[in-house]
Amino acid sequence: MEHILIYQGDITEMHVDAIVNAANKSLLGGGGVDGAIHRVAGPRLLEECRKLNGCETGEAKITQAYKLPCRFVIHTVGPVWYGGEIGEKELLTNAYLNSLKLAKEYKLATIAFPNISTGVYHFPKELAAKIAMKTVQDFLSKNEFPKTVTFCVFDQENFEIYEQLLH
Ligand code: APR
Repeated sequence: MEHILIYQGDITEMHVDAIVNAANKSLLGGGGVDGAIHRVAGPRLLEECRKLNGCETGEAKITQAYKLPCRFVIHTVGPVWYGGEIGEKELLTNAYLNSLKLAKEYKLATIAFPNISTGVYHFPKELAAKIAMKTVQDFLSKNEFPKTVTFCVFDQENFEIYEQLLH
């Protein structure tokens, strides 16, 4: 369990190998954590993202990090919550899983996730946290990379939810 940490703060300040961006399918930026990451990384991140031709929900793509203190940004697209009957849970699981697979492929030791889909995309925070925690625990139990996964929680509600889940 020590391979999983919780950090309450701004993911753009984290000195990890990769931070995960909760992007949209265009990969051309947005609000929330997507907006913060692009703002700190600078315009060259958008230039690189333009060449990626978007990203399907549940998929993940990796870029350089430019002015961010981390080494890479893994862009993933979480599902919009429409009530849970159209595969949202599987898509959120895939967003975490495909981000972890990229970290493994690039042999990244440390990776930080925001609370994907729980902002603008309205995914229920408690359910999202359970999905995130289970997906990460399962992956870490079967793979050598990443070594440490940090859940970067921005708001107090998510902080308390993740603290409960982990302890
Ligand atoms: N660091 C860490 N977490 C943050 C930050 C930050 N700087 N800013 C916001 N968050 C948190 C939010 O509080 C929320 O808990 O990230 C979580 C995800 O919320 P959103 O950023 O709204 O992402 P999401 O719900 O996945 O919606 C994605 O929003 O920004 C647009 O372009 C993005 O269209 C996409 C949609």
